[in-house]
Amino acid sequence: MTTATFAKGLEGIVAAETQMSFINGQKGILEYVGIAIGDLSSHSTFEETVFLLWNLRLPTKSELEAFTKSLRANYALPKGFNDRIRTLPKDAQPMHVLRTLVSELALYDTNPNANDLEAAREKSLRVLGMAPTMVAAFDRYRRGLDAVAPDTSLTFAENFMYMLNGEKPTETMARAFDICMILHADHGLNNSTFTARVIISTLSDIYSALTGAVGSLRGPLHGGANEGVMHMLNEIPSLDAVEPYIMGKIERKEKIMGFGHRVYKAKDPRATDLQKLAKQLAEDTGNSDLYAKSNAIEKIMERELAAKGIYPNVDFYSATTYHCIGLKLDLFTPMFALSRLAGWSGHILEQLDGNRLFRPTAQYVGPHDVPYTPMGDR
Ligand code: SDX
Repeated sequence: MTTATFAKGLEGIVAAETQMSFINGQKGILEYVGIAIGDLSSHSTFEETVFLLWNLRLPTKSELEAFTKSLRANYALPKGFNDRIRTLPKDAQPMHVLRTLVSELALYDTNPNANDLEAAREKSLRVLGMAPTMVAAFDRYRRGLDAVAPDTSLTFAENFMYMLNGEKPTETMARAFDICMILHADHGLNNSTFTARVIISTLSDIYSALTGAVGSLRGPLHGGANEGVMHMLNEIPSLDAVEPYIMGKIERKEKIMGFGHRVYKAKDPRATDLQKLAKQLAEDTGNSDLYAKSNAIEKIMERELAAKGIYPNVDFYSATTYHCIGLKLDLFTPMFALSRLAGWSGHILEQLDGNRLFRPTAQYVGPHDVPYTPMGDR
């Protein structure tokens, strides 16, 4: 038994093998099954990307049609589930709602614990199909509106926006959302994906693994950062105020949300794609000031912290993009989760295919040979 060294935060530790995402942090490269993320965001769709991640190859036309049909067959919630969502506190945070409801789906599954590969695929498809319906229904109820039933003639992106707003989105908005879903779908062994793998490695159930992953993603150091970026942009009153605001945070050694990454020491390629989208959408929707502030922040951060390898990550420009699409701020991280359900599920399938229980060790740094002191002598 080799005595391994302690790597805080498992930094640099290889804890799994995957065929889904390749990341070169020094060069800022991301590929899904070898295909550059920029090619996928330009030419693919979220549905095709999910098939790619789960089957490790692009689908034929008929395969994509069949997969899309099976996903759409899972848009509708189980009977009685809407009543359940209606009872949730209207002021509950959407990420807590999503985590709760993903977990609750297990109660509406007649065979919740099955985790053979076939069952894992079916349950992953079920959660992926229903999650947008849950989030949209909760948002409608909290606004005092009725839920909008899913429309199986619509794509994943179109359907979510239709259920949220009660009307079909423009082609531009639907495509923008679809690109966001592609860009957020998978990203190696990030914290929430690792969480899903750790849980499923005990041969627990899919719902437990996905619930744990949603819980991890909510954290502000992870998927929660996109909401932190929007709070920051809202806090900065004007373009002139950007420099003192950012310099103040740097001087106080506060982390600037949407920047830095454990793996990327160059600009996250997803940030580059999202920046183009944010710029276009900001111009189209009269939010150019928001984009201008973001761009100014990026320039200051480049001047001050690029030398430390701190660059924009996926969360920085996704905030402006989601805002311009018309999403409420507290729905930003749930959007990340809707997409990452694809990656989490793909990693669950990989973990189940040749599983080994995750059980690292902890270095004991406490005392030894301590006598038991009776209560009277303490
Ligand atoms: C995601 O892992 C993934 O793949 C995640 C993700 C995915 O797709 O799943 O890419 C999605 O989670 C993106 C990251 C979103 N989080 C944020 O934007 C929050 C802000 N970023 C930081 O908290 C931080 O950069 C992390 C958490 C993302 C990474 O942190 P590390 O690798 O643990 O690095 P660190 O905190 O040890 O920082 C190293 C140095 C420190 O300075 P020193 O103490 O050495 O002087 O860099 C500094 C940090 O202070 N630093 C920052 C900074 N991030 C790091 N300084 C200012 N602003 C920042 N954002």
